[in-house]
Amino acid sequence: MSDFVAVAHPAEVPDPGSMLVEVEERLVVLIHAAGHWYALDDVCTHDGGPLSEGPIDADAKTIACPRHGAKFDIRTGAALTMPATKPTVAHEVKVDGDQVLVRLKSGS
Ligand code: FES
Repeated sequence: MSDFVAVAHPAEVPDPGSMLVEVEERLVVLIHAAGHWYALDDVCTHDGGPLSEGPIDADAKTIACPRHGAKFDIRTGAALTMPATKPTVAHEVKVDGDQVLVRLKSGS
């Protein structure tokens, strides 16, 4: 199982906002929304769009792909709207003092 990896200082990411980080050579979008933290693969499952460049809706708990607008649930990675039909991968996040840490989903 992967370990938690420190990726950011909490103050680096506005709320709502996101930041592209690298965890064990994998690109992950770290998301801060309504006081909570989430992490998804930075890959839209429609055609590989960079989710880290898409808008976040903190109330609806979604992030939209900047390419063709597919929305994903920031909590689970579930694809909510077309043209994406498959989920992206959601990873674990925790805040410990002045660090935000991400642990890659095992087997992902
Ligand atoms: S690449 Fe993301 S919606 Fe098409």
